[in-house]
Amino acid sequence: MKSLEIKKGIYWVGAIDWDLRNFHGYLTQRGSTYNAYLIMDEKITLVDTVKHYLFDEMLERIKSVIDPAKIDYVVSNHTEMDHSGGIPKIMELAKNATLVCSPNGEKGLKRHFKKDWKFKVVNTGDSLNIGRRNLKFACVPMVHWPDSMVTYVAEEKLLLSNDAFGQHMATNERFDDEIGCWDIIREEAAKYYANIVLPYGAQVQKALETVSALDIDMIAPSHGLIWRSRIKDIIECYKKWANNICDKKGIIIYDTMWHSTEKMAYTIKNALGEKGISCEMKNLLTNDISDIMTSVLEAKYICVGSPTLNNGMMPSVAAFLTYMKGLAPKNRIGIAFGSYGWGGQSVGEIEKAFEACKFQVPLKGLKIQYIPDESDLSGLKEKIKTTIP
Ligand code: FEO
Repeated sequence: MKSLEIKKGIYWVGAIDWDLRNFHGYLTQRGSTYNAYLIMDEKITLVDTVKHYLFDEMLERIKSVIDPAKIDYVVSNHTEMDHSGGIPKIMELAKNATLVCSPNGEKGLKRHFKKDWKFKVVNTGDSLNIGRRNLKFACVPMVHWPDSMVTYVAEEKLLLSNDAFGQHMATNERFDDEIGCWDIIREEAAKYYANIVLPYGAQVQKALETVSALDIDMIAPSHGLIWRSRIKDIIECYKKWANNICDKKGIIIYDTMWHSTEKMAYTIKNALGEKGISCEMKNLLTNDISDIMTSVLEAKYICVGSPTLNNGMMPSVAAFLTYMKGLAPKNRIGIAFGSYGWGGQSVGEIEKAFEACKFQVPLKGLKIQYIPDESDLSGLKEKIKTTIP
């Protein structure tokens, strides 16, 4: 396995996880990569590593450039084990290496690995001379953990951004312009943002301020493709997502027992459609919640429906709402709906979840008993058309 020179003397030495289908609960249909970068200078520097089970793949790529024993610095931008999993073995091979990380990185790495490595702790604004180049560091806490930082190589206009700007995609290509389909890369970047980064919009805005002050012609994240042609586009996307700017479109997420809640779902779709708000339908039986979150990322209208089951919501709806609440989308309009036989508690529970998300809920109590008939559905349609802004 060969390394790939991404800039003169800087090599991608990461690993490709073709089989990955679940990343802590997030469905990764396209697999992923863990990107590590080797900088050949007077002081040889490895930035990040890979998941433990792909260590040998990374090692082979490093060996295609240099004897790993010669590595002087290992920079850990982020403690999560998809990037730090290879640190114990590489520190074993590179006996004289110093491990460079943020203050929270040092705490996290010590808790994870219980090793007495030689640490160099850096903070925002610190730089490290490695010969011809200087590495500059900026902490970006909560993008994705408290320890997260980015490494900037000013002489190369290169930002090693770790989780920020990543996508879970296993490909033979390494650069954004080698794929030929911006929509796929954008969708995977959006899915990554929606499922990993969304709760930290305020921190992402700060990180974007840091990034916009830098002269950059390449952003090399720790997952997926390296940005060299679409830098402006992905930064614009991040600005939109970090500010919770939504499109005038909706998403209708539901489960159904005897198709009554489903009839309500399609009626709401038609009503919103007549108001110029097009909606995607997401039946929870056929869609994974991590894919649904990709649509939530840019949708203003979040409609959630459940029949009442055992005095509450269907478990699939409860699971989705728990997941969405944790990811904390903001500035949305919520529409709760559902059919019921006698109790009818599901709609109130969905509304409570919307309140916890601080969604605007202009219309409450959208429930229909047993089987909706024509007049129930036309009444529902009319309410949606007249009440939803
Ligand atoms: Fe790719 Fe937060 O680890």
